[in-house]
Amino acid sequence: MLDLTPPKRSLDPIEIASRDEISALQLERMRWSLSHAYDNVPFYRQSFEAAGVHPDDLKHIEDLSRFPFTVKQDLRDNYPFGMFAVPREQVVRVHASSGTTGKPTVVGYTQNDIDTWSDLVARSLRASGTRPGDVVHVGYGYGLFTGGLGAHYGAERLGCTVVPVSGGMTDRQVSLIEDFGATTIMVTPSYALSILDAYREAGLDPRQSPLHVGIFGAEPWTNAMRNEIEQSFDMHAVDIYGLSEVMGPGVANECVETKDGPVIWEDHFYPEIVDPQTGEVLPDGEEGELVFTSLTKEAFPVIRYRTRDLTRLQPGTARSMRRMAKITGRTDDMLIVRGVNVFPSQIEEQLMHVPDLAPHFQIELTRDDRLDQMCVAVEPAAQNPEASLQAAKTLKENIKSRIGVSVEVSVKEVGGVPRSQGKAVRVVDKR
Ligand code: DLL
Repeated sequence: MLDLTPPKRSLDPIEIASRDEISALQLERMRWSLSHAYDNVPFYRQSFEAAGVHPDDLKHIEDLSRFPFTVKQDLRDNYPFGMFAVPREQVVRVHASSGTTGKPTVVGYTQNDIDTWSDLVARSLRASGTRPGDVVHVGYGYGLFTGGLGAHYGAERLGCTVVPVSGGMTDRQVSLIEDFGATTIMVTPSYALSILDAYREAGLDPRQSPLHVGIFGAEPWTNAMRNEIEQSFDMHAVDIYGLSEVMGPGVANECVETKDGPVIWEDHFYPEIVDPQTGEVLPDGEEGELVFTSLTKEAFPVIRYRTRDLTRLQPGTARSMRRMAKITGRTDDMLIVRGVNVFPSQIEEQLMHVPDLAPHFQIELTRDDRLDQMCVAVEPAAQNPEASLQAAKTLKENIKSRIGVSVEVSVKEVGGVPRSQGKAVRVVDKR
């Protein structure tokens, strides 16, 4: 694969500034953000007052732990625009979650917020190895979801030629990549696998595709999946992280030269890791729930927002800013099967180590006789039913010995596991 390390002179100076400079900037911006939220959003004024704190109490960054958390329910309670800190007329765009479980959560942006977001996605693309002049194929969904438009504005900002395809019509994704010579693709990792299948079905060799860089996120994926995608397409696969409440894609992004976890763009977002049960702040290196405080957002500041994502903070490597480890899962997608905690990503990890099975999977949970049953639906890697039955047995044994849970493994026919066009549905709970 090509060496796509961006030249040092192309980086924003703050990306490689000293930790002291970064901390000083964070303190100054945190003070502004706390006051901005307190002065302009009744919810924050009330929650700070109930906790007996005032923005002036922040003397050091560590004082942030005295401020109350914000959770998704708070956003729902203030639906649709109650968390905006500027008059609605200054909000140039809104995005929203799908709202499959209750009211959607709505987020807003001023023109400055859109500019910052574009800059940070451009920075993320550059970290991924994309360069001005590249052709960027955006397969994230356009619309209320932040993926498509977030990626789009960032790629334009970097000076790329953007192909705004959105998700779906997988065969056409392949012909557009080939015909337009896309060098970077931005999609969910599970949809990248669907595109990979479509390449093979079209009789094309994905290793000969024009793609050099894939920027994958919006759902958890393992390093084993990274290897699969990198080998199959002969391209670099890097991780992009974000959530709509904090901005959208580009809150953090991996560097192509190290691929050691997304670098959090700490000049705009202050991360903490807390114990999901007690809320206590944990030291760097310990796993817990990721919490963000926005430092520069105007329309929709978030103070100590609980993401529910589980990860660890690690020291900077290719940049001075801290990295997050790959997300293990979310506090709300941990499965408890007969007393054993299981994350779908652990199943993915085991599946990827069984070469006779394809990388697609879906977990089904049922309950008979008050006992939880977990079944993992998989597909053969090639049309070789005998090998796939043996492979299914191996997967079942590996899940038992490495994760500690007994599961059934059901080998479907090729195409039998539902394909994603965006975020994959990993778990179907029929209990
Ligand atoms: O998924 C924003 C995004 C779009 C990120 C495109 C990256 C690329 P939401 O729909 O609000 O926003 O979902 C946010 O998705 O809390 C995580 O649980 C999960 N997530 C996002 N990126 C990653 C990632 C977008 N790289 C939620 N790894 C987050 C694991 C991720 N999970």
